[in-house]
Amino acid sequence: MAYTISADGLRKRYGDVQAVDGVSFDVEEGEFFGILGPNGAGKTTALEIIEGLREADEGTVSVLGLPPWPRNSKLLPRIGVQLQASSFFERLTAREQLQTFASLYGVPARRADAMLEAVGLTAKAGERVEKLSGGQAQRLSIACALVHDPELVFLDEPTAALDPQARRNLWDVLREINTEGRTIVLTTHYMDEAESLCDRVAIMDAGRILRMGPPATLVRGLDSPARISVPSGVLPLDDARALPGAGEAADDGVSLVIETRDPSAVVAAMAARNALTGVQIHGATLEDVFLELTGREYRA
Ligand SMILES: Nc1ncnc2c1ncn2[C@@H]1O[C@H](COP(=O)(O)OP(=O)(O)O)[C@@H](O)[C@H]1O
Ligand SMILES: [Mg+2]
Repeated sequence: MAYTISADGLRKRYGDVQAVDGVSFDVEEGEFFGILGPNGAGKTTALEIIEGLREADEGTVSVLGLPPWPRNSKLLPRIGVQLQASSFFERLTAREQLQTFASLYGVPARRADAMLEAVGLTAKAGERVEKLSGGQAQRLSIACALVHDPELVFLDEPTAALDPQARRNLWDVLREINTEGRTIVLTTHYMDEAESLCDRVAIMDAGRILRMGPPATLVRGLDSPARISVPSGVLPLDDARALPGAGEAADDGVSLVIETRDPSAVVAAMAARNALTGVQIHGATLEDVFLELTGREYRA
């Protein structure tokens, strides 16, 4: 099967910085693929190479069966690109921005209104872009990337700096776009976003892909204990420590938390003691995988 994207051995150096250091991956048609990594990991650089905005020092890329570099005019109408720093034409309204993009791509101007509707900006159609909130501007830039109905969409940290409501609304928009059959490649440093949206993620740091797979598979591959918690007072700490299957346990006066690699044994023993009031069970998350792979030190 021909992949929608095939990247093989990509490398890119800026002076002393090896921004991308041997990146290879394939993306299938219709897939929602995430590149997850801390700041400076090389996500944007890798994406720009694949989008045809940057030339790789080494490696090969094929996008929809074509090489993206040098700029390929056959490819441009088939891909949508939302850049990390979105920029708009000055002093135009939201609708005029979209109409301008539409005319650049030779698609009917009425597509602009359909896109405003799709990203929930119909009420802001007549607003100048300078007056849009961060979340609204972000949604407009996604609408601009989609106005020509591309098969493949690239989104570079589309929800950075959005409030929780705007992020969730945007997730719905992105799911919808993907459900319609478009392939999406997104970069993010939000674990919950990757876990919720992506079919497959590549965890990237220092220019390399450290691990790749469906989020649930990556999480299952992490050998970390589950945490069972109940409100303090439901079960004495000493009793908790003595439960069959219990590992470390601690009580901070608000919650009693028991770590275990055998949660069913612990829960069964708690049930026998009638100590399941308010119980919560937390498994590992993609964030645990990410921290395990990339470490905990601060990034630039
Ligand atoms: N145009 C550039 N010139 C020089 N260094 C750059 C340039 N773009 C990115 N870098 C450096 O390359 C590394 C990777 O950057 P980038 O691809 O933007 O990572 P990310 O998107 O994951 O934050 C960083 O160390 C960054 O400072
Ligand atoms: Mg970036």
